[in-house]
Amino acid sequence: MLRNDQLADWDRENFFHPSTHLAQFARGELSNRVIKTGEGVYIEDQDGNRMLDAFAGLYCVNIGYGRSEVAEAIAEQARELAYYHAYVGHGTEASITLAKMILDRAPDNMSKVYFGLSGSDANETNIKLVWYYNNVLGRPQKKKIISRWRGYHGSGLMTGSLTGLELFHKKFDLPLEQVIHTDAPYYFRRDDLSQSEEEFVAQCAASLEALIEKEGADTIAAFIGEPVLGTGGIVPPPAGYWEAIQAVLKKHDILLIADEVVTGFGRLGSMFGSQHYGIEPDIITIAKGLTSAYAPLSGSIVSDKVWKVLEKGTDELGPIGHGWTYSAHPIGAAAGVANLQLIDKLDLVSNARDTGAYFNHQLKEVLSTSPIVGEVRGEGILAAVEFVKDKDDRVFFDASQKVGPQIAAALMERSSVIGRAMPQGDILGFAPPLCMTRSEADKIVEAAHDAVQHVAKSLV
Ligand SMILES: Cc1ncc(COP(=O)(O)O)c(C=O)c1O
Repeated sequence: MLRNDQLADWDRENFFHPSTHLAQFARGELSNRVIKTGEGVYIEDQDGNRMLDAFAGLYCVNIGYGRSEVAEAIAEQARELAYYHAYVGHGTEASITLAKMILDRAPDNMSKVYFGLSGSDANETNIKLVWYYNNVLGRPQKKKIISRWRGYHGSGLMTGSLTGLELFHKKFDLPLEQVIHTDAPYYFRRDDLSQSEEEFVAQCAASLEALIEKEGADTIAAFIGEPVLGTGGIVPPPAGYWEAIQAVLKKHDILLIADEVVTGFGRLGSMFGSQHYGIEPDIITIAKGLTSAYAPLSGSIVSDKVWKVLEKGTDELGPIGHGWTYSAHPIGAAAGVANLQLIDKLDLVSNARDTGAYFNHQLKEVLSTSPIVGEVRGEGILAAVEFVKDKDDRVFFDASQKVGPQIAAALMERSSVIGRAMPQGDILGFAPPLCMTRSEADKIVEAAHDAVQHVAKSLV
């Protein structure tokens, strides 16, 4: 085995890490951590430090770490057939079975699953499908996509454009011109503090409609949104939001893409966020929880309405010109089948609902009284704590103070608990594995309380 310091040197010399301050990392100002193993909600690094991962990796290890059922399914698939492609009607037992299992769980009116490898590539697929759809229907000008500020949909060219976070646009020449952004359904950050939740929802719908009218409905193909804003701050929608938005989209014949990369397969305590909020999407994006990240796999679930047009298109044009070498990779598919079976067997969706409700309740109870906690919010087994300088007047901290990152660092250093400082604003996010127990939830809450108190003291 390599010595740890040797590995650390190789890491700085050779490895281009995603979403990392490259210069600080290269200079050694940012520590590197080599993760070695994991079990349940815990991971352990190369030096034997055990940490409670209250963000399930990147909200993806939903069944928890170290599940031998999934590891064995992957090994068995690799031995039997590591790879064959899915072009021109080819498949494997695993990929065909998984497509059926997904559709059995998906909202009504869904027809087929296209498999990719990541949430980003699935959303790239979705936009291509939407463009193809409108071309087949003879409406070549209906192409723009509406996304929300603070939405997160990936970091490719199109998906980085859909993502409504500054960091993903700056110096990358994004967003592309086909993408336009509308308001985030972020009640806590509303401009007018006197506004009721109902008034705020009406404003979100009116502002969407004004944007559609300004651009021309005949130029807009689709609206994409996460049922709960994720990376943009973990923000559940205000009551009535999805109903109001869907009414506007229907009126203007605009397709709805529900990006369920985070919310799919149980995170909200329902199988899908669409079912949770009464969303009726035309396309659903899935990834993360589909395999609990035991292997890379994503999917685009296409509705009957869209599918019929795709079929018509291939009758006119020939085979669909879209596919990747690794679409429906058998190892990913085998992981997906074993993962969904385990979610059912352990009843993890119910646990996400019940233990998630307990976790959110405790977090609110313990943290809300802190003078720097402006809001504690969440849904299912997803939660966020947002920090403010002045609670009564809702004054935010200056970004340069890095209050959110300081609190996430204190959580780790003082209690070995991993939370995530969300990238825009001072927000500490939690998305533990769906198998979390109440005592693990208590540990996270206690650790968060300690970290907040510790950092709050240094701010006065
Ligand atoms: C809602 C949502 N969509 C898409 C993505 C992109 O997925 P990936 O990182 O697998 O490309 C993410 C990733 O966090 C996400 O949260």
